[in-house]
Amino acid sequence: MKALLILFVLMNLDKLLKTAHCTETQDQVLSITPKTQEQVDILKNVSTQYETALWQPVSPHYIKEDTQVHLYVPANSSETVKDLLKRHAITHEVLLANPNELIEMQMRNDSTDPRSSSTFYERYHSLENIYFWINRTQQDNPDTVKVILIGSSFEKRPLYVLKLSVNNRPNKKAMWIDCGIHAREWISPAFCLWFVQYSLSFYQSNKEITNILDNMDVYILPVLNPDGYHYTWTTNRMWRKNRSTNMSTKCIGVDLNRNFDANWCTEGASDQPCTEIYCGAFPESEPETQAVADFLRSHKDIVQIYFSIHSYSQMLLFPYSCTLEEAENHSELLEMVREAAQKIQRHYRNIYKYGSGANTIYLAPGGSDDWAYKLGIKYSFTFELQDRGSYGFLLPPSHISKACNEALLAVKTIALKVVEKTQAPTTPA
Ligand code: ARG
Ligand code: ZN
Repeated sequence: MKALLILFVLMNLDKLLKTAHCTETQDQVLSITPKTQEQVDILKNVSTQYETALWQPVSPHYIKEDTQVHLYVPANSSETVKDLLKRHAITHEVLLANPNELIEMQMRNDSTDPRSSSTFYERYHSLENIYFWINRTQQDNPDTVKVILIGSSFEKRPLYVLKLSVNNRPNKKAMWIDCGIHAREWISPAFCLWFVQYSLSFYQSNKEITNILDNMDVYILPVLNPDGYHYTWTTNRMWRKNRSTNMSTKCIGVDLNRNFDANWCTEGASDQPCTEIYCGAFPESEPETQAVADFLRSHKDIVQIYFSIHSYSQMLLFPYSCTLEEAENHSELLEMVREAAQKIQRHYRNIYKYGSGANTIYLAPGGSDDWAYKLGIKYSFTFELQDRGSYGFLLPPSHISKACNEALLAVKTIALKVVEKTQAPTTPA
């Protein structure tokens, strides 16, 4: 009997040990607010020396006193990190006690479960399924949807743009929306799919989207960074950059939103390949950046509005991010995002900050919005969708619909304003 008991204990040793140290063996997301310069320095060190993923701010460089830091701490560095915090009297809160459970929830595809009430658009989708969806959307809507191959990623995945066009009016203008430039921001591709579905379903029944589509075509790039997105589904959920390699370093990936030719690699970006905000070897060094830049250059006379969708932090931003100077039509842009934020607050009771990028968050040169603006697209925006850090990048599928509807309201508000302005009779000669 005793022998049996010993055998049982030995056989289950790993499980028993795991439950005993339950809190230590799980990944966690911590919220840490440094109070002194010394604590700031310690935190900067922690996030670079140990295997962690900084959620907020984007780079250790921006960690400062009395500002929340959101840090993803994998199980294997949990003890070391917490010890270090304790030794320097840095207090922390557990933001997410079990992010792995959330990751699993985000990856669950319950389309086969008949009890599930969520639709296709209220779930996250793997890259493969997004490619299927692109194909099917075109097949189901042959008169309105065209698929354009604009290039391919570093790992040779296709970059498809959907063109929505409901009529062939001469001199028609257009709007561009890209999603998924940063791999881990899953709500972003979900928004692009949402937008397409909404446009196709409510053209002719919703008067705003009808007015918009009657007056402009829409180009949508659902996943600007397919290699990175794929990588977040298969290997590392916290990946941000693309997956390009370079002879001169062992570190992988360029921050595509620092790789555009707008004050490239000045303050707010890094020339260090191992950082999250690496600007790349030269402007447009990455095939993804180049494909988008080439497409917009060749369509610059028709594209009036540029949108780039990110998460998280709930902000409606416009140029510049690459300088503290004001854009030439600053007050016009400010008025547009103010109105959009106000509508979101009224309809959804949710707060979005708004303003120019550099003044609202930080200097971030080489961004797509600034580049598009400098190309001549005077209505250029970056949206940061939900949330403000409760779930961060791990926004549960049940929040997709509200997050997307908020962003949709903002897109519609701004697009309508542009249609209105450009249709308004010019001052008589
Ligand atoms: N969170 C985004 C980033 O760090 C902000 C983008 C604002 N726009 C910009 N051009 N940087 O890339
Ligand atoms: Zn982003």
